[in-house]
Amino acid sequence: MANKGIAVVGSINIDMVFSLPRLPVTGETVSGASFAAHPGGKGANQAVAAARLEVPTVMIGCVGDDSWGQFLLSGLQGEGIDCAHVAQVPGSSGCAGIMVAAGGDNLIAVATGANALLSPGRVEGAGDAIAQSKALMTQLEIPLETVMTALKLAKEAGVITILDPAPAQALPPELLALVDYLTPNAHEASSLTGIDVHCWNTAAQAARKLRNQGVNTVIVTMGKLGAFFSGPAGEVRIAAPRVATVDATAAGDAFNGALTAALIQGIQPDIAADIAAAAGALAVAKAGAQPSLPTLAELGKAVSLPW
Ligand SMILES: Nc1ncnc2c1ncn2[C@@H]1O[C@H](COP(=O)(O)OP(=O)(O)OP(=O)(O)O)[C@@H](O)[C@H]1O
Ligand SMILES: [Mg+2]
Repeated sequence: MANKGIAVVGSINIDMVFSLPRLPVTGETVSGASFAAHPGGKGANQAVAAARLEVPTVMIGCVGDDSWGQFLLSGLQGEGIDCAHVAQVPGSSGCAGIMVAAGGDNLIAVATGANALLSPGRVEGAGDAIAQSKALMTQLEIPLETVMTALKLAKEAGVITILDPAPAQALPPELLALVDYLTPNAHEASSLTGIDVHCWNTAAQAARKLRNQGVNTVIVTMGKLGAFFSGPAGEVRIAAPRVATVDATAAGDAFNGALTAALIQGIQPDIAADIAAAAGALAVAKAGAQPSLPTLAELGKAVSLPW
């Protein structure tokens, strides 16, 4: 037994980042780049975000049998995440090749790699770990039928479900009906609803439309504006704390990790969203994806935490 924390069913990637003076055009070589490889993937980032807030966290995912697989696995274990259900499968690890130009423009190529082998069967094999959790977090960087299976297993066991519908893709109504908390950003909310989400009013319209499709609570994240919260008890605009933006990468992952960590303490959902917004703001004020995810001590300085 034990656990009673958060299970994450999601992607684990290595991010290969080239920082260069400008982006190459087709056929061109641009020299003068610097390079770094960082652990990433929305699933892994959200697991790290939760574990840094000192809640028991179990990762369910796949890495490749390449050297990156071992590197990614050790990184997650180093964060105190239970990796008993992270499989090392034949083939390459999931990888994002990222080129960032001096002005901030980027080009990104993603190889799904091992994440494509996170099958419904593998998630069923981790069914006990899901059932022993208080909440399940998942995202869309793994096969959709696997997301569906994870949500079903969680709902059957009375586990709270949180879906970050990223990257954007159409979702069947039977999947939406299994989601307690859906956390699209403005772009994802637009593509799920066909409503152009660009302000509080349009965010509210999109949130209501998604709730009418069976989602219990929708939180549309809106970058520096904050987030629009719509649940059974009502609607509220969550203002973002003002911070100097250093690097917006992983703001959404920090938000989801902190939201879920707060929800499993039994905190009122709109207060949990406030705590999540504080975590998102801390993540944009610091460089990198996983390095920017706040610890419990850092988040506790920004907002009052009941755990
Ligand atoms: N510039 C900012 N200042 C303060 N808070 C921010 C800022 N950007 C993001 N946040 C917080 O983080 C949350 C998530 O950010 P955002 O809406 O950009 O998600 P996202 O697009 O999924 O991000 P990403 O995919 O890059 O992780 C926002 O709802 C907000 O609370
Ligand atoms: Mg996001």
